[in-house]
This record gives sequence, C-alpha cells and structure tokens, in this order.
Amino acid sequence: MVASQHELASKIGVEVMKRGGNAVDAAIAVGIALAVVYPEAGNIGGGGFMVIRFKDGRTRAIDYREMAPAAAHRDIFVDRDGNVIRGEGGSTIGYRASGVPGTIAGFEMALAKFGSGKLKWRDLIEPSIPLANDGYVLSHRLASLAEAYKEHLSKYPDSNRIFLNNGKFFKEGDLFKQPELGATLKRIADKGPREFYEGETAKMIAADMKANNGLITLEDLKNYKAKERAPIRGTYRGHEIISMPPPSSGGIVMLQVLNMLEAWDIAAMGHNSAAKYHVLTEASRRAFADRAEYMADPDFADVPTVGLISKEYAAGRRKGIDLKKASTSQQIKFGEVAVSEGQDTTHYTVVDPEGNVVSNTYTINDLYGSRVTIKGTGVLMNDEMDDFAARPGMPNLFGLVQGERNKVEGGKRPLSSMTPTIVLRKDGSVWFAVGARGGPRIISAVMQTVINVIDHGMNIQQAIDSPRIHQQWLPDQVLHEPYGLSPDTIDILRGYGHKLADRPGNIASATGIMIGADGVRYGAIDSRSDGAAVGF
Ligand code: GLY
Repeated sequence: MVASQHELASKIGVEVMKRGGNAVDAAIAVGIALAVVYPEAGNIGGGGFMVIRFKDGRTRAIDYREMAPAAAHRDIFVDRDGNVIRGEGGSTIGYRASGVPGTIAGFEMALAKFGSGKLKWRDLIEPSIPLANDGYVLSHRLASLAEAYKEHLSKYPDSNRIFLNNGKFFKEGDLFKQPELGATLKRIADKGPREFYEGETAKMIAADMKANNGLITLEDLKNYKAKERAPIRGTYRGHEIISMPPPSSGGIVMLQVLNMLEAWDIAAMGHNSAAKYHVLTEASRRAFADRAEYMADPDFADVPTVGLISKEYAAGRRKGIDLKKASTSQQIKFGEVAVSEGQDTTHYTVVDPEGNVVSNTYTINDLYGSRVTIKGTGVLMNDEMDDFAARPGMPNLFGLVQGERNKVEGGKRPLSSMTPTIVLRKDGSVWFAVGARGGPRIISAVMQTVINVIDHGMNIQQAIDSPRIHQQWLPDQVLHEPYGLSPDTIDILRGYGHKLADRPGNIASATGIMIGADGVRYGAIDSRSDGAAVGF
C-alpha cells in the first residue's frame, strides 16, 4: 500500500511494487511523481528524510536535507542595522532562500543501498514523465492554491508561466502540463541522478542563480551529499518508536514529550480533555525550549541527542509541571543536559507485500518554496534557508525562535521538524507508520497520532483525523483546531493560565498506514488535506 497526498502518485508506487520493486523503490517513484502532481510541496528542488524498517527488523534513515551554499554565512539574512531581511533577498522568497536540493541524491542513495535491485533508476523516474508532459487534470484545490500564492509566484517568469498561466490562472478541470519538468526528468532518467548535480540541469540551476544574485554554484551542486544516519529510537509505554534524528528535531522533540507524558494515565484523562491538553502543552513547551537551544545539524554542532531523549532527563523536566497551573514560556528555559556525548512539506508511507516499510517526509518548506522556478527546468526551488536561525533569537516563518547552534553556515543543513515515524507493537512487529506536513506543527501532529493510537485505542484514520493542539514554546500560545475544543474545555485551559490562540485553525496534515494483526494494511489520509491510499 502507498498513502500519499495524490492518488496518481500512490498508483505509481503500487505499479512499482507490482513489477517486483520493494518499498524503497516505490518510495522513490512516489517522490518523483509528487514533484509533478503535488508541486507545491512534492519536489526535486528540496530535500527530506526517509526512515526505513526492513522486514528483518533492520532500520535505516537517509538524510537528504538541503545544504546551505558555501557562500552562506551567519549574517546573510541580516541588513546593516541588524534587522532580518524580509521578502526577496531574505530567507523565504527568491533565489537566496534556497539550500542545495537533496532529493535526487537521497533517492540515489536509497536505491543503491536499499532498493530491491530488480528495478533500475530509469524505471522509477519514467512513469512520471508523461504526467509532466501530457498533463493531469487540476483539482479545485490545486487550481485555487496557485492563485492564492500569486503575489510572489508572479515575480518569477517561469513560475508565473507554469503555475499562474501567465496571470490568466487555471481552473478546476484544466489539463496542467509541465513540459520543462518533463524534459528535466527525462534527462535525469537517461543520464542518471548525477545529471541533476553535474549535468545540464546543474548548469541551468547555477546559471539562473548567478543571473539573479542567488548563491548556489555548480560547485555547491557537485558537493551535495546525502547521508545515512542511525534512526532515533525510543519507547512509549513499551512500544518502540523509530524516527528521524538531527538535522531533524522531530524525533527528539516527539520522544521528549512522550517520555514526559508516560508518567500520567493519558487514557484515563480522555482524548479531548483539558487535563490531557494541559500536560501535553506543558511537555511541548519544555521540549521546544530545548529544541531552540540544543538542536541543529549534528555535523556542525554538538547535539546531546542521547541525553535529551533519556527517560531520566524527562523525569527531571516533568517535575516542574503543576497539574492545575500553566507555566509561561518566559519561565521555561532549556534544561540541563550533558552536551558532549563524545560521539510545507509532504509525507508518504509505503508498505510492500513483504512488510518492508518506508516513512518519507520531504519538502520545499513553504508552499511553492522560494516561488522561484529555475529557468527552463520546471524545477521549483525550496526556501529551506528559513529553517536556519536567520538571526538567533528572532522568529522565522513558523514563529520558531532558534539559537546559535542553528545559525547559517556554508555546507550546513538547517534544522528541521520533519518526523517520519514507524511504531512497533510490543512483539516487535510494525504497527503503524505516520508523518505529516506543517513545519513545527508536524511534531505535534505525529506525536498526537501516536498518543491517539497507543493511549486512546484509535485506528489510524481516527488517530490522524482527531482534533489536536500545538505549543512550540515561543510564541507563548496554544494553537487549537475548528471544532477541536469545547467551550468548557477552553474555559478550563484558560483557567489554568494557558494563552489560547484567538482563532482556531488546522494544525498540520498527516498520512499513515497501519498494519492489522492479521497483516491487512489500513491507509489513512488526513481529512484536513487530500490524497489517497492505494493498495493491491
Ligand atoms: N521546512 C520545514 C521543516 O523542515 O521543518
């Protein structure tokens, strides 16, 4: 089964498995397909993380997060007066906002190390080429989404032509064609993954960057490297949780919160209760305060992962939580951890017939990334540079405040919140896999899905659809969802001292697959978003 945010992409993954491919092969084909049919987040101009659990119990993680170009430095997004540069030239819009894309290199590594060996690179790219060249029918959502992003998309000629129909916009039912992207995919299929980093596509990226004051050079593209990392592992009430380590904060923050919550009987508190949301908010506040201080690219900064996810550390952090009174984020600082240990985004899940599982989240950050489509390539670029601390202590696009460890440095990966996760039953078999899109809210969506299944006994669809909350230390507010909290629950939470957001809004969107005890696969797409789970 494949659960992704577009039916056509899920179907392509299923076809790959029908031809003998494993979950990794299928995940690569789905990722390429989403770059065509889910262009606002699916990508080859961004990066992400793939967590794999093989049927024999081995687990692996591939980090294909973007890297800052070599010319980037700590103050690149700060003006002479020390203010963060907003808009074009800053970390969110335009050519300078992009890190060196990692998606193609990540897929190259995944195929070489963990593919079935039965299908070749070309076999995984080719199914998406007709979707780009001949087009697909636009949904109402995608047709109107591009128009909603017209302010900045319209500034970049190729983005204006491809996504805004030269200002005439698209409507539901139109055939949406991306011939330049089709040609780029064909080059990559014919010449192999290095084409993107060293061939004609690389030259086109570097030339367009140079012509527009961007930073990415041919040398940066050539030097990009995907990395294999050891997945982060922890437990919640005896169930093993496997997730992404730094440079994502997702796995650590989720495990920190789950470790703190383990002391309380969350099931007895009840799913949507004030009691549960109170402790969840307080635990999240503490874990996100640690995120701001400690987390960053582990190749550039000491990240005390083992200390942060230890049960002992959680016990200490939990001690300060008053069960009837909210703390303020001003009071809550990062915890004491031994530092040296010596040592808008889319998620999809694939389970193959043998039981190998891939949980993959990748992104170009904001919807439509930096809004720049590289001239002649159809490749929409990321604005992942905004996931660095543009100025340590100042909020980014998601309002996240981050510290010195996550400052901009050439060759470094920005800190992420992506949380591709796999959860095991107590007997060690795979129970479910889940991930989400939505910046730091991803962590809240994934961990509340885990809590909903383990504590509240929900199935995967119920667990993903249920209302959730989000608290990320700063700003000091609790986000909540439409129809999520009853007025009396809100009153109780306010009575404890929580600052609830004035208006409710959706918090991230998730996809996942649960494997029943009898082996049946149950796919789930968040009702907050679209997509399809396709099985065979
Ligand atoms: N760009 C969102 C994230 O990686 O967390």
